[in-house]
Amino acid sequence: MTNKKEPKIEIKDLKFCHNGKVLLCVDYLRIDSPGITVIVGPNGAGKSLLLKLIQGIELPSAGQIRLNGLPISDKRQSQSMVLQTPILMRLSVYQNMSMCFERKNFFISASEKQKIIDILSRVGLGKKLSAPAKLLSGGEKQKLSLARSLISNPSILLVDEPTSTIDPNTTMLIEGLIKDQSKKGTKIIFVTHDINQAFRLASDAIMIYQGKIVEQENVISFFENPKSDFTKNYLAGKLLV
Ligand SMILES: Nc1ncnc2c1ncn2[C@@H]1O[C@H](COP(=O)(O)OP(=O)(O)OP(=O)(O)O)[C@@H](O)[C@H]1O
Ligand SMILES: [Mg+2]
Repeated sequence: MTNKKEPKIEIKDLKFCHNGKVLLCVDYLRIDSPGITVIVGPNGAGKSLLLKLIQGIELPSAGQIRLNGLPISDKRQSQSMVLQTPILMRLSVYQNMSMCFERKNFFISASEKQKIIDILSRVGLGKKLSAPAKLLSGGEKQKLSLARSLISNPSILLVDEPTSTIDPNTTMLIEGLIKDQSKKGTKIIFVTHDINQAFRLASDAIMIYQGKIVEQENVISFFENPKSDFTKNYLAGKLLV
């Protein structure tokens, strides 16, 4: 159960440090908007780290993260994440999906089985049910990872560069799936290096640079009238140091 009046994501005084170096520092971030929030920024800026902290895969050195008004440890709200590098079990495609139901002996109902088949078909893996997941191509692994994250119909979905190794047609298909999921009420946080993709998907956008949020705006302001010089230069494709 989640409180609809609370911000979807609220972060206060967040720090992630390693070997005495601050890798991520977010004084305050509030995401209220429905739809798709896109995160952009150069390599090593801290985008994946921020998503992993929101997902609870990494633990912060300090600070708080609340989702729908609840701490991330609270199981009443649900979030799932598509990792930049998918982690798959040494099992078949189908078994990797059925594990999402957290049952013993892979026992799942006929309707759950149908749901798995439907989602795999939607991502284009309908004919690969019994294929070993480890032998899938890079793009197919990303599709399976996305399919796994969609099956729980999460309230928040964190997606880290899901189309980085995917061909243009399939990229459009994945974007369609993400947009459909957003229309179903899932709040999507989407990391991409593809500025055109960011513009196609975003209702609002965030720029991260050197572990800090330098801009957070609605999509029109972000792309047409960015406030920070960094965002202006980044969107213009200028070399940044
Ligand atoms: N668990 C960790 N422990 C120590 N350092 C980490 C950890 N996770 C990430 N880092 C470091 O934090 C920085 C930001 O990493 P992150 O993966 O968030 O970058 P990114 O913005 O996602 O970059 P890219 O666009 O290349 O995916 C990098 O310097 C990385 O080496
Ligand atoms: Mg990353």
